[in-house]
Amino acid sequence: MTSYKELGLVNTVELFKKAVKGGYALPAYNFNNMEQMQAIIQASVETKSPVILQVSAGARKYANQNLLRNMAKGAVEYAHELGYDIPIVLHLDHGDSFELCKDCIETGFSSVMIDGSHLPYDENVALTKKVCEFAHSQKDYVTVEGELGVLAGVEDDVSSEHSNYTQPEEVQDFVGKTKVDSLAISIGTSHGRTKFKPEQCTRGPNGILIPPPLRFDILAEIEKRLPGFPIVLHGSSSVPQEYVEIVEKFGGKLTDSVGIPEEQLRQAAKSAVCKINVDSDGRLAMTAIIRKVFAEKPDEFDPRKYLGPARDELKKLYAHKNVNVLGSAGQA
Ligand code: G3H
Ligand code: 13P
Ligand code: ZN
Repeated sequence: MTSYKELGLVNTVELFKKAVKGGYALPAYNFNNMEQMQAIIQASVETKSPVILQVSAGARKYANQNLLRNMAKGAVEYAHELGYDIPIVLHLDHGDSFELCKDCIETGFSSVMIDGSHLPYDENVALTKKVCEFAHSQKDYVTVEGELGVLAGVEDDVSSEHSNYTQPEEVQDFVGKTKVDSLAISIGTSHGRTKFKPEQCTRGPNGILIPPPLRFDILAEIEKRLPGFPIVLHGSSSVPQEYVEIVEKFGGKLTDSVGIPEEQLRQAAKSAVCKINVDSDGRLAMTAIIRKVFAEKPDEFDPRKYLGPARDELKKLYAHKNVNVLGSAGQA
């Protein structure tokens, strides 16, 4: 049994309180390897931003949970060495069972998500409540994120007739019964690099796809029912077209890539949305640079020579987000 405090980590309680009050959102960046973690910490220290390091079930499988947990401990020391102690949260992303959440809680995670959003409402309540009871009864309080409403995937229909958007009339009951510390909602974001089908978008100049706007009306309705309660947005990559173009220029194929415009995320961050999840943009940035290095230097075979530039680009991207999109810069 390891408490997150022993690793130098913090939970989200105070960070979310400050973020909701201050009108900004914390970055929640996924990591699976050392370069991603270095980029996240470098960007967060440089911009003096608190940060949430996210580990998915897939990341645990890929990289080994003990290594990732110890990397988070290392991240705290690394930030210190870089010259600024920032608050760091280690968070389980999309936990799908009580057992997985329990295991993370017992091995040093300071925050977990239990994603029961695909379950019938009552089962989602029961599972989320069970995780909260366990997490909150630890010697060091572990925070829990729940989810209501299903994020659309590219296969799903996000039109209002067949909406899986969060139903505002359910949120008070869900939060009251489960005692979650934050709630992920569905207002039009989705996971991956193709957040909308082309036919759901309009075409801008040069044929650029313009996605339908987020449902700020639903967000406002939720805020009215749960004033000041921490809200989370998943699937919030912006899918920068510069990266898509670099990938395609150097042999990749990323047809129909479209993300959430930065201005809309900025607007959301000013509300009770206090955690914004980004993974796909980091994947795009790294892939773009690695493809470029391979194309321009075909004789290069030292991984540091392509992972290093990819890491530098990732750091630049995350610093930009902290400053210009989330507003978390200067809040550590
Ligand atoms: O929301 C999902 C994240 O992007 C993590 O993706 O499950 O492939 O690690 P992953
Ligand atoms: P993106 O696919 O938009 O980066 O979303 C990541 C996410 O929600 C992780 O939980
Ligand atoms: Zn997600």
